[in-house]
Amino acid sequence: MKTLKYNTIVHEYSDLSELNEMDIRLVNKAKEAAEKSYSPYSGFKVGASVLLDNEEIICGNNQENSAYPSGLCAERVAIFYANANFPDNHILAMAIVAKGNNKFTPEPVYPCGSCRQVMYETELRFKTPIKLILAGDKKIHLLDNASQLLPHGFDKHLLNKGDL
Ligand code: THU
Repeated sequence: MKTLKYNTIVHEYSDLSELNEMDIRLVNKAKEAAEKSYSPYSGFKVGASVLLDNEEIICGNNQENSAYPSGLCAERVAIFYANANFPDNHILAMAIVAKGNNKFTPEPVYPCGSCRQVMYETELRFKTPIKLILAGDKKIHLLDNASQLLPHGFDKHLLNKGDL
């Protein structure tokens, strides 16, 4: 018998000014995106911004629907838009923020499991880690890659399409 243990490494900051210029820009873009969220059912506005290797910044926000499962999270809206329009550009970083009760959350908001799976496959696809910037108003978490949030993510190789 063998016991496996997994680590998540989180760099914690207490103020946006401690981040580098690009990361601050990404957080501000994610905040702008959150304001445009369509979330009449939850009232929870999530914003995401994605930095591509051509320096383009793509934004997304959560899009809800009265048929609840038809909606989509901010992170996947941003990643899918980026991959749909810039299929050859690697995603280098992503900032995520959220606003509940009309205030940005004090704590960082972590992506849901489905978004983690999409980030996991995006990292595999481009063979490039996605730096995550999860920005609360009082606490900011930086992660060097997204896959550490999903140990044993579903691997496309299981579909016997290993060369994809
Ligand atoms: N939501 C996101 O946009 N991202 C996440 O990672 C978790 C949740 C959205 C979905 C829904 O519109 C609202 O937040 C409440 O769950």
